[in-house]
Amino acid sequence: MRIDILSIFPDYLAPLELSLPGKARAKGLLEIHVHDLRQWTHDRHNTADDTPYGGGAGMVMKPEPFGEAFDELEIDGATVIFTTPSGEVFNQELARELSTRERIVFACGRYEGIDQRVIDHARTRAEVREISLGDYVLNGGEVAALAITEAVVRLIPGFMGNPDSLVEESHEDGLLEYPSYTKPASWRGLDVPDVLLSGHHGEIARWRLAQSEERTRERRPDLLGE
Ligand code: ADE
Repeated sequence: MRIDILSIFPDYLAPLELSLPGKARAKGLLEIHVHDLRQWTHDRHNTADDTPYGGGAGMVMKPEPFGEAFDELEIDGATVIFTTPSGEVFNQELARELSTRERIVFACGRYEGIDQRVIDHARTRAEVREISLGDYVLNGGEVAALAITEAVVRLIPGFMGNPDSLVEESHEDGLLEYPSYTKPASWRGLDVPDVLLSGHHGEIARWRLAQSEERTRERRPDLLGE
């Protein structure tokens, strides 16, 4: 998979050099290129935004730098993701879908958003997705691009050292994950549930499923359609 990220604050994306995406890069499964959008501006001040037509507060990101960046990066056939609070809300199912793509280009918006024509034009040459990290407003789309990248990259086949750990985690089966324990069996007067020490795999599986269901019902009834 190749990921390109366009931002006026490329330093925000520095963590991609570390941790999980860093490992995938080392394994040759992933190529990530972070680009400073201002390299596609041509005035002395490297202006990437302007006032909105029709008036109103805030600034809008200009179309030309994104247009030139898309031309140079040859986005044709890629999946272009605009991170925006008005997009579809990101979740594990969408992460799975995106993990099948060969090429993803993130366009990170700032201010009041990006000139709509950038999105409309990209749609004529690429698969366009507008994605929100959740129902709250960030200062820009960079943190969203970072989070989406991390969630997607760990699903690339061959990326996880132990793929079994993907199967049982929260959201993969529509439920939250059961509580986990490790040694010691007793700590500060708190004991690990007996069933986990019993060695009965069937009982352990049943207990874990019941815990997952209870947690989900308590914390996220929306996942159960309740
Ligand atoms: N930019 C600002 N807020 C955002 C959000 N919630 N998701 C994605 N991009 C954003």
